Amino acid sequence: MLKRFDKLYGIDLGTSNTVIYEKGKGIVLNEPSVVATNLDTGELLAVGAEAQAMIGRAPDHVDISYPLTNGVIANFDKTSSMLQHFIKKIQGRSLLMRSSQIYISVPCGITNVQKRAIEETMIHKGAKKAIAVEEPLAAALGSQLRIDEPIGHLVLNIGGGTSQVAVLSLGGIVASHTIHRAGMSIDRDIMDYVKKQYSLEIGEPTAEQIKIQIGTASATATERSMDIRGRDGISGLPRTVRLVSTEIYAVVNDFLTSVIDAIRATLERCPPELAGDVIEQGILLCGGGALLEGIGERISKETGVRVQIAENPLECTALGTGMMLNVFSGKKRPSWQSDKQEETAMEA
Ligand SMILES: Nc1ncnc2c1ncn2[C@@H]1O[C@H](COP(=O)(O)OP(=O)(O)OP(=O)(O)O)[C@@H](O)[C@H]1O
Ligand SMILES: [Mg+2]
Repeated sequence: MLKRFDKLYGIDLGTSNTVIYEKGKGIVLNEPSVVATNLDTGELLAVGAEAQAMIGRAPDHVDISYPLTNGVIANFDKTSSMLQHFIKKIQGRSLLMRSSQIYISVPCGITNVQKRAIEETMIHKGAKKAIAVEEPLAAALGSQLRIDEPIGHLVLNIGGGTSQVAVLSLGGIVASHTIHRAGMSIDRDIMDYVKKQYSLEIGEPTAEQIKIQIGTASATATERSMDIRGRDGISGLPRTVRLVSTEIYAVVNDFLTSVIDAIRATLERCPPELAGDVIEQGILLCGGGALLEGIGERISKETGVRVQIAENPLECTALGTGMMLNVFSGKKRPSWQSDKQEETAMEA
């Protein structure tokens, strides 16, 4: 039962970023999902932005990792420690999750066992109640879509570890498609390209900067350039090269093709009425990938469907989980908790 002093949290536990909404306050935390540990002692050295700043700069005995892979928890201990650290940071004391009730987003298409494991991780950490909810539903709600109507909406969420396409209607997911390619795989593709083309080794943070600064989904975008520094693969010495946006377009293009294929496959599998609704309503694009230059226009051009970019692509999922907190007073699971969902996980 909900008590007056219970804290209500909506958590977007993402592969790249964790965003926490607290009822009554709004978004209270937005940090990278990264943990740094001392391999010799097992001690937790840093979490979030502090740990991310160590990537590529840490000595051998320091392990820096993302505890989630493709949206699911890959390392339960590290994920728990990370969440515990974040909640402590918000609460300003070590009460951790005691007296808290939580809605937490998970990628669509994960098994019920994986869902329960996430809920139980929260309960184990002291939460009174934890409900896992599919990310596209939360993202749509957080972007002000009326997901409870008998109207089909298509949500495309491009995060760090997964790209999820979901057709929603009447508060549930009717058809969905998840690919394990998203922001982080683009970064890896950029690293591979730079290594192959220029014999230059760069780290993930540099690859992400390249994507953000000169990455584009448009073949006709105004050319931009960027000087990057890396290590020469032959001499081992630092070297600088100038990259241009057309090169990054070519790298990103393969990823975009798989996203567009996933949209087509989802539309093909959804009932004709809903497909018709989607054409009328357009596609809602969210997640950090929605910020890639020209992506909305590109998807719209290739699918013939209008694309609307969420007002706040990086925070809409957490906002949506926050909005779901309102149903805690009810006894039953809300309709978006239905397990009857059609899903195809398409490995990249
Ligand atoms: N301006 C930008 N252009 C392109 N990509 C961007 C931009 N800003 C952020 N990103 C990318 O967005 C990704 C993070 O998005 P988001 O926070 O939605 O992912 P997540 O929720 O942690 O991951 P997932 O939903 O897959 O578990 C990162 O890969 C980041 O590089
Ligand atoms: Mg996400």
